[in-house]
Order: sequence, then structure tokens, then C-alpha cells
Amino acid sequence: MTIIATHEQLSALIRHRRSIKPVDLDSSRGVERALLMTILEDATWAPTHGLTEPWKFIVHQGAARQRLAETMQRVYQATTPANEFREDKMKKMGENPVLAPVVIACVMERRGGAKIPEIEEIEAVACALQNLQLSATAAGLGCYWSSPPILGTHEFAEWLQIGAEDRCVGLIYLGWPKSGLNWPRSVRQPVESKTVWREA
Ligand SMILES: Cc1cc2nc3c(=O)[nH]c(=O)nc-3n(C[C@H](O)[C@H](O)[C@H](O)COP(=O)(O)O)c2cc1C
Repeated sequence: MTIIATHEQLSALIRHRRSIKPVDLDSSRGVERALLMTILEDATWAPTHGLTEPWKFIVHQGAARQRLAETMQRVYQATTPANEFREDKMKKMGENPVLAPVVIACVMERRGGAKIPEIEEIEAVACALQNLQLSATAAGLGCYWSSPPILGTHEFAEWLQIGAEDRCVGLIYLGWPKSGLNWPRSVRQPVESKTVWREA
């Protein structure tokens, strides 16, 4: 068997990936197009039932990030019931897309027809987004998957220009971490508590 990366290296990469929030990214430093293309291509090597490849990446950079921020705020204001509306969330929606040099709206594009259940198309996109995040981490980038409820609204889908059956499953914020950033720590429950062995 050909060994491409050692198991230890892959394990270390998986465990090193952290959600890096936009505020911790260097907003003045863009990400080269060639590197972005490699990362997106890595995403597309995810497993996909029936090879439907149900992903679409809408990449926002430069001034498009400001338009995204304004749209998120407009949709949040228009679709959030008054008793759930939060000023701090509204403010973040205006700030986050501009703090990150790249914001990717990640869409599940329904391609499997009745043959492939919708959940499997969403699962395939989730696999692709984990590939994307691991590839970005390996390149030294920081990234973060965000899923505010407005992504599921008709208003936001219309602005993205996606089909009626398609679904924006997340925004991936991407960029170079600020120099000197203390890499966040995270925890996981012991895997023994999540595992059942049946051997007889
Ligand atoms: C499907 C999905 C949606 C997520 N949406 C959000 C979100 O809206 N806001 C947020 O703060 N984190 C979001 N996250 C990131 C998680 O909060 C994060 O993965 C978790 O805290 C563990 O931290 P880590 O990624 O650094 O290991 C999301 C993660 C996934 C997989």
C-alpha cells in the first residue's frame, strides 16, 4: 500500500484544526486564488452517494463581503420575530464578513433527484466542508463554519440565487490567523463513552 501521509500526521492535523473566528483573522491579508482552488478541489474529493457532487461554493472576497454583510443584516431584521431579535447578533453579521478576507457560502445543490435522499446530499456536503477545513488547516489558514438561521430563509436563498430545493448549509470564514494568535483549545468526550463494542 502506498503511504501518502503517515497516520500520525493525519491524526495530528485532524486534532489541530480549530474554529478560528473572523476577529482572529488578518483581514488585510488575502488568500491567493491558486491556494483557494486547491482547498476547494480537496473539498470535492469527499464521498458522494451516486457521485452527484451536490456542492456549490459561492466565494465572497473584496467588496462582495460588504454586500454579504448588508444582506445578512437586512434578512435578519426582516425575518426575526421582535422577541428573538438581538442587537449583538445584528452587529456581528455586519462585522464578521468584513473581518475575514474570504467568506464561502456553501450550498447543497440538489442533484440526485428522488434516488438520493436530501439528507445524503447534505451529508456529502458536510464531508466536503470537513475536507475543506482540514486542507485549509494544513496550509496554515484559520477557518470557521457558521450557520445562522437566516441561511435557511427564502430571502437569503434568493439573494444567493440558488434553486428552490437547494440549501445554504454554512458560511465558511477563511483567512490567515493574526500573528501571535493563541491557537484555541477544545475538548472532546472520551471516545469510550461514545462507543459500544459488540463482539459476541
Ligand atoms: C454544521 C456546523 C455548524 C456550525 N455553526 C456554528 C455557528 O453558527 N456558530 C458557531 O459559533 N459555531 C458553529 N460551528 C462551529 C462549532 O461551534 C465548533 O466546531 C465547536 O465549538 C467545536 O470547536 P472546534 O471546531 O474548534 O473543534 C458549527 C459547526 C458545524 C459542524
